[in-house]
Amino acid sequence: MATHKLLLLPGDGIGPEVIAEVKRLIDWLNAQGIASFETEEGLVGGASYDADKVSVTDATMAKAQAADAVLFGAVGGPKWDAVPYEVRPEAGLLRLRKDLALFANLRPAICYPALAQSSSLKPEVVEGLDIMIVRELTGGVYFGEPKTITDLGNGQKRAVDTQVYDTYEIERIARVAFDLARKRRNKLTSMEKRNVMKSGVLWNEVVTQVHQREYKDVTLEHQLADSGGMQLVRWPKQFDVIVTDNLFGDMLSDIAAMLTGSLGMLPSASLGETDARSGRRKALYEPVHGSAPDIAGEGKANPIAMLTSFGMALRYSFDMGDLADKLDQAIAAVLARGLRTADLAGDGATIVSTAGMGEAILKEVQALHG
Ligand code: NAD
Ligand code: IPM
Ligand code: MN
Repeated sequence: MATHKLLLLPGDGIGPEVIAEVKRLIDWLNAQGIASFETEEGLVGGASYDADKVSVTDATMAKAQAADAVLFGAVGGPKWDAVPYEVRPEAGLLRLRKDLALFANLRPAICYPALAQSSSLKPEVVEGLDIMIVRELTGGVYFGEPKTITDLGNGQKRAVDTQVYDTYEIERIARVAFDLARKRRNKLTSMEKRNVMKSGVLWNEVVTQVHQREYKDVTLEHQLADSGGMQLVRWPKQFDVIVTDNLFGDMLSDIAAMLTGSLGMLPSASLGETDARSGRRKALYEPVHGSAPDIAGEGKANPIAMLTSFGMALRYSFDMGDLADKLDQAIAAVLARGLRTADLAGDGATIVSTAGMGEAILKEVQALHG
């Protein structure tokens, strides 16, 4: 059996709490001989700043480069509000994405049957929802230069962020999205703001060309990103795959999270280019949510987004789709029994802790393995 090297980066706030539930699952899989994971841990974010005065060290970056996959918890929190911008916790995550060239961020929003009542939207709007947001992750305004605050000397300052995209960046993320659409319901919606932004004009043009050249069999639609946000809460089931830039993808995926009941439900996979020779790609798996400082340390965090992020690792890095399916089934079963972390609380629910949820899901996985 192949041994897979995982680098665990728990980070800050609820990060370590939700990663602990993945460790519980990994330990069992290893002990049973169902899989063989070799794990190593590192610091990132505020935890790394406290130890080393940077949000990720070169040594940790080297480990991330060498791993078969990285599992990332969350970073940030009020404790680090005043640290220099270059070493703020979030910079560690951005360096991982950029240096590992993880340009494709897959954020699936799936509403489990038992949670249709938990969303802030009407049950009929979210029941059976299964959409995939493909967010460009290494370009756009997150990384564009210049990125500055200049003192104008007259009591005014000027802040500049730069939104920039080259053709190849749009082409490669479009291909990821079209390929996914082909394996799903064959529909792709591209979102930008070509009515105001030059990058939106190019985005629209390039996605259209890639479609014409390589993916005519897939249905392609374009929506302006603001209207797309409105459509996501009006009738989200019109979508299959959505492809969008780094900033719009950040915002639209938090919106999509609420369609599933809670931000604590949305996993993500951040993937690099597939190496033509080895067939492998760099990958980092992380929940969409942050460090949730308001509930950190209280055992209230929902570990499902972290667990399903590991599920995405099973699918996209380790060719263990069957095991990922079992994990999904286990989660659905536990939710169907009425077990909920506090973020999902509803009528008649049994509120459990982070560990309580993790244990229940593991028990269910065990039962599915007979
Ligand atoms: P957040 O996602 O941490 O929290 C938003 C709200 O959702 C909070 O009320 C929180 O309690 C709740 N929530 C989030 N995850 C949950 C979970 N698993 N279970 C239950 N409830 C959950 O966003 P924020 O408060 O805007 O940001 C806090 C910090 O996290 C900031 O420093 C931000 O930069 C950082 N952040 C990090 C990441 C990441 O590491 N990938 C992502 C988003 C935000
Ligand atoms: C996310 C987060 C990050 C982002 C932050 C923490 C840098 O919000 O992964 O959605 O903005 O990309
Ligand atoms: Mn975000």
